[in-house]
Amino acid sequence: MAKKIITESSRTLMEYRLLPGYTPTVCNPSNISLRTPLVYSKNNEKKYYLNIPLVSAAMQSVSGDQMGIELAKLGGAAIIFCSQSPDSEAKMVRKIKNHKAGFVKPKKMKADMNVKEMYEIRKDSGHSTFPVVDDNGNFLGLISKWDYDISLHADSLIKDRMIKKENIQVGTNITDLKEANRALLESHKSVLPILDAAGKLLSMVFRKDINDQLDFPLEIHDENKRLISVASINTHDYKERVEALANAEVDVIVIDSSDGHTQYQADVIKWINKNYPTIPVIGGNVITKGGFRFLVEAGAKAIKIGMGGGSICITQEQKGTGRGLATTIIDVVEERDKYFKETGIYIPIVADGGVTSTKDVTIALALGADYVMMGRYFARMEESPTDKIVVNNRVMKPYWGEGSARAQNWKERRYNQGKFVEGVEGFVEYAGHLRDNLEETLAKIKSSMGTCGVMNISEFHQKAELEVVSALSIREGKPHDIYISTEKMDNQDYNSSE
Ligand code: IMP
Repeated sequence: MAKKIITESSRTLMEYRLLPGYTPTVCNPSNISLRTPLVYSKNNEKKYYLNIPLVSAAMQSVSGDQMGIELAKLGGAAIIFCSQSPDSEAKMVRKIKNHKAGFVKPKKMKADMNVKEMYEIRKDSGHSTFPVVDDNGNFLGLISKWDYDISLHADSLIKDRMIKKENIQVGTNITDLKEANRALLESHKSVLPILDAAGKLLSMVFRKDINDQLDFPLEIHDENKRLISVASINTHDYKERVEALANAEVDVIVIDSSDGHTQYQADVIKWINKNYPTIPVIGGNVITKGGFRFLVEAGAKAIKIGMGGGSICITQEQKGTGRGLATTIIDVVEERDKYFKETGIYIPIVADGGVTSTKDVTIALALGADYVMMGRYFARMEESPTDKIVVNNRVMKPYWGEGSARAQNWKERRYNQGKFVEGVEGFVEYAGHLRDNLEETLAKIKSSMGTCGVMNISEFHQKAELEVVSALSIREGKPHDIYISTEKMDNQDYNSSE
């Protein structure tokens, strides 16, 4: 006889609905905050908070450096995938940490190149203005598309067509974007080269993208205004990998494992806490109270929960292990709250796998998760690391599991040891830019919170009232008994565009 048999079904997020609460006038979306702790930090450090409750999954087809930069600027975080070499993962982290929004480093031209050569580079790079430097990197001038006509000047030398530095307003050692913006305005020009005190070119700032860059009020950054970077590790090559990531100045580490209730994981957490005490570790995945307590007692500063629910996941099919995410959240949150009462330490919980639509995010938060991790949602964005392709006249992006045959080429496998796969590969419909999608997603979350009469996620945890719905009720919640005329809904499930 098994030690434990629960006869009540485990439930998914789809099976719950929120009941409205009283909404005071102050509780409108512009006043609702989605700020949430990324990890427990003793001194409540600002850098360990997200401004939106979303992180992108540690997957090859989801979280590279571009996602890391864009998502941190928008208030969330990408968990850089670890199914790559420690060096290339560290390079991604370094790119995020060194990202200076608005400070561009275009290709540099040499004064004695001819215009034809530069023209070829221009075609490939998409830039129209280039700095000109000498062999030591000292700034000599600028050349832009207004300074030549390729049919007349193909063989001319750049030095004969460029605007010389004497006639250009430059900024010296500027690192703050607002200061660069002010200097740019005073110069009455569209571009500002930034030099060091000795005259070496550091970067350029363009008027056309500066306003865009200044407009990221939710950006998460460290004490030096550098973006927060979060990267994943496995339990195999962790010593080498953590060292590489620490050298790249990673802020938080996530252990990427489908089953975190293991001695391996406890050993890794203890090792990191001992050797890199300033880098908090997120442990997981677990789906039980016991798993939660085990990892927290090993020293994890946030816990990732969920097994078997991911959109690319076939773990339940293959191994028979897993649990509905809603039941997992309810169970583990109960233990988290108990742990908080006992110790005063609040451990954030990350709901992961099968959170596909905004309403899933909202239900997960209402049930007690502090933020959610999503793969499919982010794989569809321009900023995911894959190329767009056209399948059946639809623009798609490839998406594959870390336990799929495609990802298993990587030597340190997250899942089984190569005898069978635990994930599939396929396509998801391209959704455009992250920023536009997030705007809609966050508006919906805030709107639901408003309906429930709560101003922040912590209040949501305390006041949300939920109810299990029947299959018929779910069906009733979709359009029915009508021919839908909008193209978006043709031939597809009402919610599938999200
Ligand atoms: P999604 O948001 O539903 O697409 O699920 C993403 C989550 O699925 C990830 O954060 C992982 O926890 C999990 N996952 C990633 N790859 C695999 C796999 O190959 N098999 C099973 N689960 C996976």
